[in-house]
Amino acid sequence: MNSLRRFTLGLAITFGLPWLVLVVVPTFKHASIGAMVYEDADGNQKYFPESTVFTNGQLVYQAEGCVTCHTQMIRPMYAGFDGQRKGWGKDQEKRPSLTRPSEARDYLRESYAYLGVQRNGPDLSNVGYRIADEKWHHAHLYDPRAVHAWSTMPSFRHLYRKQEIQGAGSEDAVATKGRYEYVPSPRARALVQYLLSLKKDSDVPSSRSTTAGEASSPAPAASQPADGA
Ligand code: HEC
Repeated sequence: MNSLRRFTLGLAITFGLPWLVLVVVPTFKHASIGAMVYEDADGNQKYFPESTVFTNGQLVYQAEGCVTCHTQMIRPMYAGFDGQRKGWGKDQEKRPSLTRPSEARDYLRESYAYLGVQRNGPDLSNVGYRIADEKWHHAHLYDPRAVHAWSTMPSFRHLYRKQEIQGAGSEDAVATKGRYEYVPSPRARALVQYLLSLKKDSDVPSSRSTTAGEASSPAPAASQPADGA
């Protein structure tokens, strides 16, 4: 074998093997996963994952680049201590157990999993449990420093519309300035509905209680807000 052929072969193996193992195999492995149907201890039929995200709002999350500063991924213990952080899971008080790490199924029916790469702000996997107040989110998105004076999160003021105050003013106005008030645009509403729908901490069925295995059709969108936009 001449040295060029050996070099090319070495190059192909060096890059090809990791690509095969880290990209191709997981892609095929995860492409076919579906919701799980199982029976809980009381014999009720349940689905895993329980919740689905509000996809209209996810588009705004994507467009505004929130993923550059926020993750949506609770790392397993060997990679970090996310699971021990208070309020990062369903249980907001002192936890009886650790928040479980994220699973591939948690991102089911999302066109893209917004895992994120760095945390300038907190992880948002379960922000729907942590901050369930729509008004809080609007006030925060409009002016993060009005909520936390130390915040480095940019303001998303452009998602709010300026309008003249009518009568006593709108109930959902986030700010007023003279004769004008600022109200959430449909995009801001959709984004907040999305944040409220982020609840990726449903119980993982234990293998003992799983009965029907993979469901062929997606689980009903039980927690999908009726109309956020
Ligand atoms: C430049 C980085 C940056 C970007 C971009 C950013 N954030 Fe943040 N975010 C932060 C920081 C820092 C905090 C913590 C301080 C605070 O609460 O304001 C935060 C906090 C939050 C919180 C409160 C979380 C909690 O548990 O207290 C929410 C919700 C949130 N951001 C949503 C968003 C959304 C939605 C977007 C996109 C429209 C976004 N962020 C874009 C940096 C960012």
